[in-house]
Amino acid sequence: MSSRLSVALSLLATGSLVAAGPCDLYSAGGTPCIAAHSTTRALYNAFSGSLYQVKRGSDNTTTNIAPISAGGVANAAAQDTFCASTTCLITIIYDQSGRGNHLTQAPPGGFKGPETNGYDNLASATGAPVTLNGQKAYGVFMSPGTGYRNNKVSGSAVGDAAEGMYAIFDGTHYNDGCCFDYGNAETSSLDTGNGHMEALYFGTNSIWGSGSGSGPWIMADLENGLFSGQGSKQNTADPTVTHRFLTSVLKGGPNKWAIKGGNAASGSLSTYYNGARPTASGYNPMSKEGAIILGIGGDNSISAQGTFYEGVMTSGYPSDDVENSVQANIVAAKYATTSMNSGTALTAGQSISLRVTTSGYDTRYLAHTGATVNTQVVTSSSATSLKQQASWTVRTGLGNSACWSFESKDTPGSYLRHYNFVLQLGANDNSKTFKEDATFCSVAGLNGSGSTIRAWGYPTRYFRHFDNVAYIASNGGVHFFDAANSFNADATWAVGSSFA
Ligand SMILES: *[C@@H]1O[C@H](CO)[C@@H](O)[C@H](O)[C@H]1NC(C)=O
Ligand SMILES: *[C@@H]1O[C@H](CO)[C@@H](O)[C@H](O)[C@H]1NC(C)=O
Repeated sequence: MSSRLSVALSLLATGSLVAAGPCDLYSAGGTPCIAAHSTTRALYNAFSGSLYQVKRGSDNTTTNIAPISAGGVANAAAQDTFCASTTCLITIIYDQSGRGNHLTQAPPGGFKGPETNGYDNLASATGAPVTLNGQKAYGVFMSPGTGYRNNKVSGSAVGDAAEGMYAIFDGTHYNDGCCFDYGNAETSSLDTGNGHMEALYFGTNSIWGSGSGSGPWIMADLENGLFSGQGSKQNTADPTVTHRFLTSVLKGGPNKWAIKGGNAASGSLSTYYNGARPTASGYNPMSKEGAIILGIGGDNSISAQGTFYEGVMTSGYPSDDVENSVQANIVAAKYATTSMNSGTALTAGQSISLRVTTSGYDTRYLAHTGATVNTQVVTSSSATSLKQQASWTVRTGLGNSACWSFESKDTPGSYLRHYNFVLQLGANDNSKTFKEDATFCSVAGLNGSGSTIRAWGYPTRYFRHFDNVAYIASNGGVHFFDAANSFNADATWAVGSSFA
């Protein structure tokens, strides 16, 4: 152990955690961060610069969010003030290392983004609220189609050079799409062959490899393969991990690499693989290119979802001692969940109606006609059948208990869900997709009162009526129902008692 690391570790032991951020620890170990990304906190004890940039929908202006104090937690209150009564997107995740390796909206690659210009979507600035040591902050909640990238990175590992990395993910937010990654990737956004990537992967994709159980697993995306160990298929030493806050670690050097993981809220790291490079052609030596990706594959594959809170890339192969001390620092940061709901208070079992607030339409209520979800004029003298079609029972969120689901009053067992961003009424088939697509959070009304109902899995999208049909819409975007005109009013609902 180096003397600098000993000093850093003794600072940890004496509780002087402020004196040793994750990147101070990597630096003390001789494997400095070449990139440090977090929307929740500073990753160096002395860092007081900008952590990330947000852009608001009301006037397209941006602001930078910094820690409250050097080395501290992000100033979420500054974001809340800037984003009040409008929508906000995360436009830049700044690199804290001083090298300028910032992450921005990923450009088109082998796969094109969902927007007409081919760029990936930006994440909502409010989709992943958390607290660190009791202070509110926001992570980066990434839906399929969302991605960040830097193809011109300074100081990253290329070829077979050694590097390390860790990231904190939400272990309950994942899917089997390709590929929710953070790490080293191609500088062209194209698949240039085996061994051209070295990135953390998290999810249940088992096309290339898998671990024990049904997943999700931490694996290494080395391009044309997600590896859980040396072989390209199942390696049972790589466990299913679902910690709400998950520390995931990957490091690789000449013919050696390792995967580790642990609970970011308590305890230590475990090693899931530590050994030689895969034997398949192209992975030894590696041909790393040195770009950095977040939320996507090296070729801009955009099918995956996940949540990122913080992560770093290092130069050199970090020691286990350093990684253990970084994990201790992460645990001491005390990541915890916080309320996802800031709109009208709801309770499970409550019967409600949702009235339109847009002037000229505010006698209409969210209702359904068969599977079609629309808005209809409902009054006390309406037929009982219509009253029931416009009444909803609040249920604990089927896909996430921090949010809500809305069960049809007249069709028990059927819920509001989105499909291709259109709201529908559908019977719960108990699939992961249905449950997630039927889960919504009630946030403060964009129009200053009432509630705005946000799709849990697509937090840039909200219940919105358009031509009396209901969608999950974003404030501006490629679909006609994403029109920015009248967005705040159309996405603000008055929660009232049910008709039936
Ligand atoms: C914000 O920018 C988008 C894209 O350039 C544009 O369509 C929209 O009208 C702008 N919104 C405002 C409020 O300026
Ligand atoms: C709120 O809704 C009203 C009625 O639809 C509309 O006139 C007004 O512009 C909206 N205000 C905001 C801040 O969006």
